[in-house]
Amino acid sequence: MKGIFITGTDTNIGKTFVACTITRVLKEYGVDVGVMKPFATSRRRYSATFGSEDAWRLARAAKVDDPEDLINPYFYQIGTAPYLAATMCGKPTPNLGFAVKKLRKLSRQHEFLVVEGIGGIMVPISRRETILDFIKMVGFPTIIVTSPRLGTINHTLLTFQACLNKRIRVYAIIINQKPENTSKAQARLPSLFSALTGIKKIIEIPRIQNDHTLRNIENLIARDLLDFD
Ligand SMILES: Nc1ncnc2c1ncn2[C@@H]1O[C@H](COP(=O)(O)OP(=O)(O)OP(=O)(O)O)[C@@H](O)[C@H]1O
Ligand SMILES: [Mg+2]
Repeated sequence: MKGIFITGTDTNIGKTFVACTITRVLKEYGVDVGVMKPFATSRRRYSATFGSEDAWRLARAAKVDDPEDLINPYFYQIGTAPYLAATMCGKPTPNLGFAVKKLRKLSRQHEFLVVEGIGGIMVPISRRETILDFIKMVGFPTIIVTSPRLGTINHTLLTFQACLNKRIRVYAIIINQKPENTSKAQARLPSLFSALTGIKKIIEIPRIQNDHTLRNIENLIARDLLDFD
């Protein structure tokens, strides 16, 4: 099984944006990419085919027509952590083994999988398991999406440490939505993260202004993250 797991320091940090961009770039370079959002929650279903908007976005980026039960096996209609959502809905909490089985099935149909987590790394999926346990079971390296905002040093290092404790390989840290004018402290974030974590790939993604920026971000992802020349 080959793939990458996209996690982040928070909800709304840019996981789907990064996952979709990686998916598009890999496809451009001829890789057959499958996508997965194993656990999702939202107040209402997004479309007839997908409850989860993220699942829909990922499927669109990958141009796949895999069914919802493979791309997003668990969806609950309360926008909170899956464990809490399941409990509040009176439904069974997700079974991680079952989600891994779905991922294995999907991985047999594609060369490479891009998998998006939910919220941050300590989001409870069941009473005793978090998204971290799922990543560990799958064994994919992970990408931590973070921000250049105040508080990011603490959140990023906490997330990194949680991965380290579980022996999950962190492939890269992506500082998403870098503003046009950074402060002196913001400009030093990449070298700080690199020095404190030992991770070589620390990538800054600018805040999108137009299609031109999006194209630049795709080139950046291809060259600096995925090592395509
Ligand atoms: N570099 C960027 N420039 C401009 N907008 C961005 C950028 N990255 C993300 N966004 C926007 O920020 C919002 C949140 O991004 P995204 O949905 O990818 O976050 P997420 O971490 O996947 O959230 P969730 O926890 O809901 O899954 C979206 O509206 C997205 O389009
Ligand atoms: Mg998302």
